[in-house]
Amino acid sequence: MLFELDRVTMERDGKVVLQDLSASLPKGASCVAGPSGSGKSTLLRLLNRLADPASGTVRYGGADVRERDPLELRREVCLVPQLPALLEGTVQDNIDFAAALAGVEPDVPRLLDLAGLDSSFADRTASKLSVGEQQRAMLARSLALEPRVLLLDEPTSALDEGTRGAVEATLLHLRERVDVSLVLVTHDLAQARRMADWVVRLDEGRMVGEGHVREQLAV
Ligand SMILES: Nc1ncnc2c1ncn2[C@@H]1O[C@H](COP(=O)(O)OP(=O)(O)OP(=O)(O)O)[C@@H](O)[C@H]1O
Ligand SMILES: [Mg+2]
Repeated sequence: MLFELDRVTMERDGKVVLQDLSASLPKGASCVAGPSGSGKSTLLRLLNRLADPASGTVRYGGADVRERDPLELRREVCLVPQLPALLEGTVQDNIDFAAALAGVEPDVPRLLDLAGLDSSFADRTASKLSVGEQQRAMLARSLALEPRVLLLDEPTSALDEGTRGAVEATLLHLRERVDVSLVLVTHDLAQARRMADWVVRLDEGRMVGEGHVREQLAV
């Protein structure tokens, strides 16, 4: 398994938001599904140590994530947040920044292409992109880190149906071209069926089902 959560409990402001949660996420494309407020974003942030649980263990590649340096882990397991958060400047500036963190020389046209953007986007001002374009620019920037795992928090929630389809196609195509695992958070079970092979279902901070999408989310 790529990730294992073992009896994880998480509190926020004195309220239990993940309760005694055990679940596994394999390599490939998996998703965390559940209604709003069920703890999906909270769970995702545990996977690369943006937060640590109050109790229980999170393992990545068989080892406790607390053994890993958080900054190094976050480059390897990269979270693309629910709302785009690009830096000032151009799309290229954003990609260069991430590549410098990873100590790599970015192939900007390739990264843009992987994210479903043509090369003219390199010189565009990040703040002047549409939300869908910003989400893809975030994806290009994340890919510049050459991550092993992308954590995608509701990557299409702000998009119309057509743009959502384009981002989904980009993500599906990405896995054919780059050796990267995806963990996708979604409240949309139809999207989970389209995008993932494995699902962990949450409700009110508890795991209420996990397994192959075709069994867990049969229509
Ligand atoms: N910073 C915070 N401080 C206090 N409580 C929080 C904080 N962030 C989230 N919570 C609470 O934790 C619970 C789980 O939140 P989380 O963001 O993980 O849900 P979610 O499943 O991602 O929901 P959504 O689909 O709306 O994004 C919610 O009850 C939420 O109110
Ligand atoms: Mg969320």
